[in-house]
Amino acid sequence: MKQFISVKDVKDINVLVKQALHYKANPFADKALGANKRIGLLFLNPSLRTRLSTQVAAQQLGMEPIVFNVDKEGWALEFIEGAIMNGTTVEHIKDAAPVLGNYFDILCIRTFPGLVNKEEDYNEKIINQFIKYAGIPIVSLESATLHPLQSLTDIITIQESMAANPIFINKKPKIVLTWAPHIKPIPQCVANSFSEWVNAWGAADFVITHPKGHELSTEFTKGASITNDQEAALKEADFVYVKNWSSYEQYGKILCEDAQWMMNNNKLALTNNAKVMHCLPVRRNVELSDEILDGPNSLVTKEAANRVWAAQAVLSEILKNH
Ligand code: CP
Repeated sequence: MKQFISVKDVKDINVLVKQALHYKANPFADKALGANKRIGLLFLNPSLRTRLSTQVAAQQLGMEPIVFNVDKEGWALEFIEGAIMNGTTVEHIKDAAPVLGNYFDILCIRTFPGLVNKEEDYNEKIINQFIKYAGIPIVSLESATLHPLQSLTDIITIQESMAANPIFINKKPKIVLTWAPHIKPIPQCVANSFSEWVNAWGAADFVITHPKGHELSTEFTKGASITNDQEAALKEADFVYVKNWSSYEQYGKILCEDAQWMMNNNKLALTNNAKVMHCLPVRRNVELSDEILDGPNSLVTKEAANRVWAAQAVLSEILKNH
């Protein structure tokens, strides 16, 4: 693996999941792989899980991680080619990224979308310039449109849960991605990425449900069944992935404020005793009810814990290729 920006960088999802589960059983199995290697974790936006799980994963591979909160501690970066830099930006990405490429062996970036200019966000203006100018492998810690480390974690968590339940010996799981309410406009990244990974994995019946106007880009959803009827979608579901996202068409807008879209125990009763997932952070009793989050069907803590193994599998693949 040369970089990790999307599922397209992965040869075989099942092999990567197996590697992650190997590390879960043997965290220090490849402690020598990253010896004398340094990994930079650059945050242009906040994080709890991604930041800490990737540091833990890197350390378990023997690497030295260095975290840099660019948004708070770095110079304001310029990304426009040919910019006359007489405003607020101090350093061009063309100058900063090659320097970082000299300091690190792998560079990881978190950069959210602005949710104002769809073309700019969906062209991945920021992470693509790190790829272009850093000259070392880049790992996405969530970019403008995708969150691949989260999606790999989600497939790991689903496969792990399936392995513990004999009903899946001869049955494909039904996975439902359901939109949930939120008070703020939220990026489409997690939903895009989850859709892309479940479709690429190809081992599930996949249904997406959302209110009208919250359609995701078909680039990521093709292969899934899509409905605006949440109750119909939830019927016989084995896994329910709950997530809010703002509108793709009316870019960055919230078009539905209907609290009835929140996942709760009444809706869980429609499912096949489904396991419920969310990437966190979650707005309790807005996106998901306390009763679900604190109940036996929630996988959210296991899912977050698996972030370490997903990151470790990805970093090890990159280290083996460099
Ligand atoms: N799920 C996730 O990416 O969490 P953080 O934003 O806390 O990293």
